[in-house]
This record gives sequence, C-alpha cells and structure tokens, in this order.
Amino acid sequence: MSMTKRTALAGLLSLTMSAPVLAQAYPTKPITIVVSFAAGGPSDVIARLLGEQMSKTLGQPVVVENVAGAGGTAGSKRVAAAEPDGHTILIHHLALAAAPSLYNNLGYDTKTAFAPIGLVNTGPMVIASKLALPPTDAKAFFPYIKDNADKLTIAHAGVGSNSHLCAVLMSQQLGAKFNQVAYRGTGPAMNDLVGGQIDILCDQSTSAIPQIQGKSIRAYAVTSAKRLDVLPETPTMTEAGAKLDMTIWHGLYAPKGTPTAVLDKLNAALRVALKDAAVVDKFKAFGTSTFPESELTRDAHAKLFAAEVDKWANSLAAAGVKPQG
Ligand code: MLT
Repeated sequence: MSMTKRTALAGLLSLTMSAPVLAQAYPTKPITIVVSFAAGGPSDVIARLLGEQMSKTLGQPVVVENVAGAGGTAGSKRVAAAEPDGHTILIHHLALAAAPSLYNNLGYDTKTAFAPIGLVNTGPMVIASKLALPPTDAKAFFPYIKDNADKLTIAHAGVGSNSHLCAVLMSQQLGAKFNQVAYRGTGPAMNDLVGGQIDILCDQSTSAIPQIQGKSIRAYAVTSAKRLDVLPETPTMTEAGAKLDMTIWHGLYAPKGTPTAVLDKLNAALRVALKDAAVVDKFKAFGTSTFPESELTRDAHAKLFAAEVDKWANSLAAAGVKPQG
C-alpha cells in the first residue's frame, strides 16, 4: 500500500475508533520526533539514532523534523500544541526545564504541557576553541579568556540552550563578558568553530568528541566530575581550576493528554532502542551514557524533569538572569 493510502486509512481509523482502541492500534502512521535545534547537532544525532531503532519495535517509520529557533522553544511549542496521539513527540534536553526561567511567553506551561516518555542519555559539555586560538591547554586558556573576553566570540544555540547556559555559567565564573553569537543549533555553530569564524563553543560531548579526535578543534576541559574515557587527556573543569559542573540529559516527551497505553508503548520502544548494540556503541563513543534501568520509567523521568525546572529557576535567579520576551 502506498504511503498516501496508508496515511489516509490511518486518518479514517482515528475518526472511527475510541481512545482505548486507538491506543491499542498505535502507531497507525509514521511518528515524527521534533528536534528543537538545527540538523547535525547533538540532539539531532541522538534523535536519528534512536528513531531508527525505535521504528523497528513500533513497526512504523520514525522521522526527524528540525523545528529550530528561540533557543529550542519553537520546537517545544510545536509539540505542546500537537495532537496527543503519540505520532508527534519531542526530544529535548535540560533546556526544556530551564526555558520558563528565561522566557516570559513560551506559549505553553512547561510543568503541565508534556507527558514524559523516558530518559535517553546523560553526558557532559566540552569547552573548546578554534585551533588558531593561542592557548594550548586549560591552564593557559582560562586566564587568556578572562583577559581577552571582549575580543572573543562565543557561539551558542540561542538563549536557554545548553551551549548558552554553559556560556553564561562560564562568564559568571570568570567575571568575563564574551561577544555572544547565536545559531539555530550547535551543528552550524560547530561548523563555524572548525572553520575558525568563531573562537569558543561549549557543546555536548556528542558533537565535540569527533571534531577533537579529528584535530579540527581544541578541547580545554569537560564539565563532568571525572575525565571521559574517550577523551583521557582533557581535564575536568575542577582540575583546570574553574568551577563549572554541568551534566546534560535528553528525554522524550509527548503532548499532555496522550493516552497512557501509547506512552507505555513509546517507553518500551525507547528502552529496547537504548539496549541496541549500535546505540550503546555510539553513546560510548560520544562520551554519554544511558540511565540505570530503575530510572528508565516514565515516573522517574517526570520526577527528574520537575526537579530540573526548580533547579534552573533557582540557579538562573541566583546568576541574576531574568526572563525575557
Ligand atoms: C543542538 O542540538 O544543537 C544542541 O543541543 C543545542 C544546545 O542546547 O546547545
């Protein structure tokens, strides 16, 4: 059957079936994972990897749609307003929890708009520069950027993105004001770092590691408590004499009102995908890891999400950051 006929039949079925029956039949058409940042960045890479594996369990194609803009909040808004039938879901990281402390008019209520499906992965950020920047190690880097911040550009993926929050925390730590350059995601920002058009980027290890190993950019420090196995020569921020502890995590979300049976199917498919050898190997190579089995439930995800909304509200208020817009 052609895709158009299948989609038309799925539409007809959804009009004639009750909610519980619909949940049982789910999924009846391709599933879209909305990525709130540009293609080629870490969220996009993780979404495509997961989508490929989840489609095997769910029996429908899983396609990625990049809805970038406004620090990742445009994609969240799109999913908050989507049909709550499990065919449009969101992958997002801790920036979803930080957004209400940074934006006044998100167009959705962060605490109630989403039904958490499950936690995906967790890992650190890596502070990196273009190769031409003079300091060659962390010891030289931090004094150098402190003295030269006004002449340096730091890229990020928009207000509230991980890379932006990392830049804010770093500026606060050093008492230095960088020239910020906003992109639609760290995929294009990383391209410009490699090309030397910008000076500094704090990005997820997922995107930074391949470029560091390929010697296209220089790494100074990781924001985790321990060094990464895949980046043994790069010190932690503490070893580098600076205090910036930032652990990022991704989760999958459906719009609120999505039937429990659908959420359970998505959670089960996610858990199968996370055990797939291809995913396990890639996550390891990216310096990220999955959560322990006990934290893969929908409840555990909901708890972490609620705690992170409060955590970012407190830390951003303490940093003197006020919501905008
Ligand atoms: C991306 O995928 O582009 C990043 O997750 C953006 C960010 O939050 O820094």
